[in-house]
Parts: sequence; C-alpha cells; structure tokens
Amino acid sequence: MKAIRGATTVEQDTAENIKESVKTLLLTIKKENGLSEGNIVCIMFSNTSDLHSFYPAKAAREAGFFSCALYSSLEPDISGGLKKCIRVMVLAEIEKAPKHIYLNGAVNLRKDLTKKLNIAIDGPAGSGKSTISKIIASKLDILYLDTGAMYRTVALACVRSRVDCSDVASVKKVLDSSQISVKYENGMQKTLLNGEDVSDKIRTPEISMLASTVSAHECVRTAMANLQREIAAANSCVLDGRDIGTNVLPNAEHKFFLTASAEVRAERRKKENDAKGIIQPICEVLCEIKQRDEQDRTRKIAPLVKADDAIEVDTSDLSIDEVAALILGKVQEKV
Ligand code: DC
Repeated sequence: MKAIRGATTVEQDTAENIKESVKTLLLTIKKENGLSEGNIVCIMFSNTSDLHSFYPAKAAREAGFFSCALYSSLEPDISGGLKKCIRVMVLAEIEKAPKHIYLNGAVNLRKDLTKKLNIAIDGPAGSGKSTISKIIASKLDILYLDTGAMYRTVALACVRSRVDCSDVASVKKVLDSSQISVKYENGMQKTLLNGEDVSDKIRTPEISMLASTVSAHECVRTAMANLQREIAAANSCVLDGRDIGTNVLPNAEHKFFLTASAEVRAERRKKENDAKGIIQPICEVLCEIKQRDEQDRTRKIAPLVKADDAIEVDTSDLSIDEVAALILGKVQEKV
C-alpha cells in the first residue's frame, strides 16, 4: 500500500471552485499513478478553515471515485500558512513509487516530494553499495537500480553461448541477440535475460569475474548505460555501480563513492557467499576482489573512479545504519 499525497488551492470558497480544483487534483493523481477504482483504498482530505469541508468529498464522488472510503477534516489555523488550500492523501494498492501532485498555489508546497531524485552510489565490490542503496531507496520510497546485475546478465548470456568474454566481437554478437531488461516485483528488482528471471543465477563468483571482463567492452557499456539512463529519466531511483556519477548520470545532484579496505570487503563478500552456500576460502575471495578492482579501475572506458563532486564515505568502520543515515542526511540537506 502506498500513500500518494497532493494539494491544491482555490480562488474562492464556493462549491464550484472547490469541486473543480479537487476533481482536477484527483484525476491527475489517478492518471499519473495508474490508479483504478479497484486499487484505491481510501481518500482523506483536509482543508484550511477558510473553506467549506463538505465539498472535497462530494467532488470525489462526482469525479467517479465511487467505492473507496472518504474522510474529510478541517486543519487548524497556522499563521503564515497557505490560504484556501485542500490537501489530500490517497491510499492505494500500487507497486510503483507514488507520484505526489501539487497544483495551483500549492505547487511549491512540497518540492522534496515532487522533485525527481537520482542518487548515484558508486564504489568497488563489497563496499556496501547494494545494501546501502536498498535501504536508501526503501526509506525514500523510490526504486533501487542495481546496474552491476545488468553486466552480470551480459556475462551469463556469454557463458550460455559458450563465448569467451574477452573476445569483443563474440560478446557483441551475443549482446545484439540478447534482450536484457529489469522489472520490479514488490519493490525488488528482477533482472531478465530474454524474458527469463536470472536474478539468482548471476550471483556466482564465476559470473562476478566475467561481468568485470565484459564490462570493459565499449559496446556493452554503451548499451547498459543507455538502459540505465532510460530508467533514471523515468523514475526517482538510487543507482549503484562503478560509473554512475562519472558517466551514466554525470549531472546527478546526489553522488556518493563508497570505499572500504580490500580485507573488509572480502570478509563481507565471504559472509554473503557463505549464506548462499557458496563456500570459498577467504584468501580466494580476497584475491578475486583485488583482481576485479584492478580490472574495473584500469579499464579504458568509464573506469571505476570517484567523480570529483561525489562525497566519499569509507565504510570500513561504520555500521550499515551509520552509512545509510549519513547518506540520507546529505540527500535531505539538498532537497
Ligand atoms: O556491483 P557488481 O559486483 O554486481 O558488478 C559486477 C561487475 O560489473 C563489476 O566488477 C564491474 C561491472 N560494473 C560496471 O562496470 N559498471 C557498473 N555501473 C556496475 C558494474
């Protein structure tokens, strides 16, 4: 269930004025969020005391919102507050992050809710990017885009076609004949290869190394970066990767670069692998992490590097909650 918020103002306290503004607000909320009668649970209104509170609910019924529960209330007077204002909260059973709508005199009321947010979180393997990105996305109720999963999927496609991941011509053939996409289920990213959900199959140490290898090819980077830009243009999201702040979204307003010592990162990766039943000695995990760092940092195209305007966070001695709080604080300072 999601809470979609909105507000509008009216010129005069008349039934016509109030009903017209509320209808426009509700129909815009419905359209922008893809709502139907069936997924709206209830609509709650509040209005400033200079307006009659009977008409917003009446407008909802007249605009075709027949079956959901309606609730109206009067706001206390706040000195200096917006006049003749009607606020709404629509509770709806939707998957996507809600699109909040502010119209007329209320258009500047909640810039923090209506502005599209793209947050870039880059860093090497095991620096905590995915754990932190998921927390930030969930707290802000926006999407989390794991861009590494896309490169992993290209590597899986190559393995399935028995192609050498370092042979650019063969990789390009596989790339051109494969369809890589993402979808969201209950807010969780599913990564698809030709329509098949491969989210679990791409989490092996072998695919980790091969993803790093295929990600060095220009054709792969261009295709994946374009897909990532498309998703970021249409949605507020946290993107984690290696080149989000430098290459995919160089103009992103919020950029972070997470680091941690190779030893700490290897410990974290080993714990994750153990939990999945992938047993590897720590020295082997550390060796793979270092090798992948080297490949990712030294490749010619869009290497792993901190963007000049990214905030660097060394997560070695910080808890997950501490890192998440630090990043959320920095994001909220700017919105
Ligand atoms: O984040 P990850 O471990 O799932 O990424 C796997 C590999 O994909 C990584 O070693 C390098 C590559 N990658 C990349 O080049 N650019 C990104 N934005 C994300 C991942």
